[in-house]
Amino acid sequence: MNHITIAIDGYSSTGKSTIAKQIANHLGYVYVDTGAMYRAVTLYAMQNDLIHKDDFNVEALIYQLNKIEITFKYNEDIGFAEVYLNGTNVEKKIRTLEVSSFVSKVAAISEVRSKLVAIQKQMGKDKGVVMDGRDIGTVVFPNAELKIFMTASAETRAKRRFKELIDRGDTVIYENVLKNVQERDHLDSTRKDSPLLKANDAIEIDNSNLSLEEQLEKVLQLVSMTLEDTE
Ligand code: DC
Repeated sequence: MNHITIAIDGYSSTGKSTIAKQIANHLGYVYVDTGAMYRAVTLYAMQNDLIHKDDFNVEALIYQLNKIEITFKYNEDIGFAEVYLNGTNVEKKIRTLEVSSFVSKVAAISEVRSKLVAIQKQMGKDKGVVMDGRDIGTVVFPNAELKIFMTASAETRAKRRFKELIDRGDTVIYENVLKNVQERDHLDSTRKDSPLLKANDAIEIDNSNLSLEEQLEKVLQLVSMTLEDTE
């Protein structure tokens, strides 16, 4: 059977990674979480005192980009690859609300984007990959055979992200999570370089009122149709 490239883009907390992992496991494909890469660069900026609430030393981050190595390593116990920053597993550290509050600023820097996009293109060069992010169908793999664009209302997404953070033991306030979701939507959609856009040939799925099972069924149908078309 042909291997294809599946690009999943959309707003934050639309469940892109959940569906991307399910599809990758179903097909035996590699799953790549590109948001984790932007989050890891953000964590580097935080750890090196380059970014704070009201100031961000963009020049210093650009200058230090060649010191940042982002890699993935498959973890059999959880069934997907975890992200490493300069050899350290940072999968848990990159999911905090603090990282979320800075990441859109880091992701707006063209030098950061070109470094990460080059790695992403390399990871997907042999196809057989499900990649999720904001610019996968528009910039990273404009020729992907299947492009999905996920949406849901900001409130639905904030509730999901709030539950995720609480379940992992973080102390957060719902209103702050909602604010972060809305701010990131705005920054990600209005930045100059590779803004979040639905590719012309992407299929939009609004999952505000879909169960995980319904969503999986819908996407599996799209995958089957695409695989048949590429036979
Ligand atoms: O998917 P996520 O919420 O983990 O992504 C974190 C941030 O990274 C998101 O707010 C925007 C940015 N991002 C991006 O600009 N391009 C991507 N391909 C993936 C994420």
